[in-house]
Amino acid sequence: MKKQWWKESVVYQIYPRSFMDSNGDGIGDLQGIISKLDYLKKLGVDVVWLCPVYDSPNDDNGYDIRHYQQIMDEFGTMADWEELLEGLHERGMKLIMDLVVNHTSDEHAWFVEAQKSMDNGYRDYYIWRPGKNGEEPSNWMSYFRGSAWQHQPETDEYYLHLFSKKQPDLNWENERVRKEVYQMMTWWLDKGIDGFRMDVINLISKDQRFPDAEETGDSLYHWGGKYFVNGPKVHEYLQEMNREVLSKYDIMTVGECLDVSPEEAVNYVAEDRNELNMVFHFELMNVGSGPLGKWDIIPWKLTDFKRVMHKWQQTLKDRGWNSLYLNNHDQPRMVSRFGNDDRYRIESAKLLGTLLHTLKGTPYIYQGEEIGMTNVNFASIEDYRDIETLNMFHEYTQSGHQHDLLMQSIYERSRDNARTPMHWNQREHAGFTTGTPWIQLNPNYTAINVEEALSDPNSVFYYYQKLIQLRKEHPIIVYGDYELLHEEDEQIYAYTRSLEQEMLIVVLNFSEQEAEFMLNENIKYSDSQLLIHNYEIQDKGISKPFTLKPFEARVYKLLT
Ligand code: NOJ
Repeated sequence: MKKQWWKESVVYQIYPRSFMDSNGDGIGDLQGIISKLDYLKKLGVDVVWLCPVYDSPNDDNGYDIRHYQQIMDEFGTMADWEELLEGLHERGMKLIMDLVVNHTSDEHAWFVEAQKSMDNGYRDYYIWRPGKNGEEPSNWMSYFRGSAWQHQPETDEYYLHLFSKKQPDLNWENERVRKEVYQMMTWWLDKGIDGFRMDVINLISKDQRFPDAEETGDSLYHWGGKYFVNGPKVHEYLQEMNREVLSKYDIMTVGECLDVSPEEAVNYVAEDRNELNMVFHFELMNVGSGPLGKWDIIPWKLTDFKRVMHKWQQTLKDRGWNSLYLNNHDQPRMVSRFGNDDRYRIESAKLLGTLLHTLKGTPYIYQGEEIGMTNVNFASIEDYRDIETLNMFHEYTQSGHQHDLLMQSIYERSRDNARTPMHWNQREHAGFTTGTPWIQLNPNYTAINVEEALSDPNSVFYYYQKLIQLRKEHPIIVYGDYELLHEEDEQIYAYTRSLEQEMLIVVLNFSEQEAEFMLNENIKYSDSQLLIHNYEIQDKGISKPFTLKPFEARVYKLLT
């Protein structure tokens, strides 16, 4: 397997609105991030992924871009952004930017023009269709609920928006659109950035017939993914983008891909395909969701979780490279979801971190994960800010769903769980802002915060620091082959990584009960060393069976 810097890196994701506010307006900003660069350096991460900081009316917190080459006023100026890039590079870290080109804002100059008339030169930058029998051109549902089509009275046509109606989809069939996007990407790369995270990139090509989706459930609109997920020309476009732009720079790329299977992912990331380096898939994020989607919460089993991970590790083996994440700005906090955010918060945050950093792939840490931040339960729907959460709540309320049940699913799944401000210290607003925060804080910041973590040698922070350090010291963590042990075990996730004469044994007790572990007899070794563990233990050997405490994690290195 070819060595690459992005395989050896650990990425840290920043959601700027919630990271650090420098000017007291209650909104995180670029100077706020700059003031925390030494903190990131101390953690040891190699790359920062910055969620969108471009000019935006913020219908979807920056994922609705009004101007691709300007910085959002609330976040600062281009000079601030340049200072940030320089600050990262000076400290030996890299910067990747969010590339949101499936759609723009409806306030983008292209769309402002496009909607003026049918023969406007920009009309074809977006996707317009006449209605069908006085209704939308198709029955597609938007990801944020309701129809994916918006009627425009001036021209009596509809435009497509797979997300909110303020996020019209770009028409990638139009060569001029593609050229504009490539020019814009080149402009950022020439400013010195180190790559892109590409927003919903596998949706950019749509079946031009725009057929109706199959009807499921009693909603008016339906899931049309078949006609735009991994659409007909997506690979053609990505290969063109690679040829025209990406291949000219030493950068990393990761494409967010909805509903992608590992087999399909290979088509995006195989080296000889010349498209992307990695994708973010959602299969693991769907564990614990029922047939009705993310708000349909069902119990999950460790064997389901392992099956997904295993499938991705196996399928991409030698054929591509995995990205590894357990939460981000769109997902609940991992410790609340896959661990225990109460009695075993610290242990389970460390256990999940161990998984993230010892599977094969590039780990992505989401801000606050490194101190074990948790989900939040706001008292009222009024306290929520996320468009997806609010749209779901209002639609389901109208159709008669019970308020308490809706709030319960919001507590478990809302994107705002991850978007509450970062906890820096135990002072007012956790040191995030001197003003009024744009969204409330999680009240547990008095106990869970960076200052506290930095003063406690047993904190999640220092454990993450060590995990990141181990990756640099042991190439086996990056390049070793993965194999699953004890596949059917419902408590323990255990696997090996192997490279030449070395083997790692990773043993993770995902349960609140003790669990017994015994190394498979066929694994022979001459020497063993315990690399990292999250409990004080006396007997550090692996030769005898041992009992793992709740959420205990151990990583051994063997010489075989
Ligand atoms: C995925 C982003 O991560 C999410 O935050 C956003 O709402 C959608 N794409 C639309 O851009």
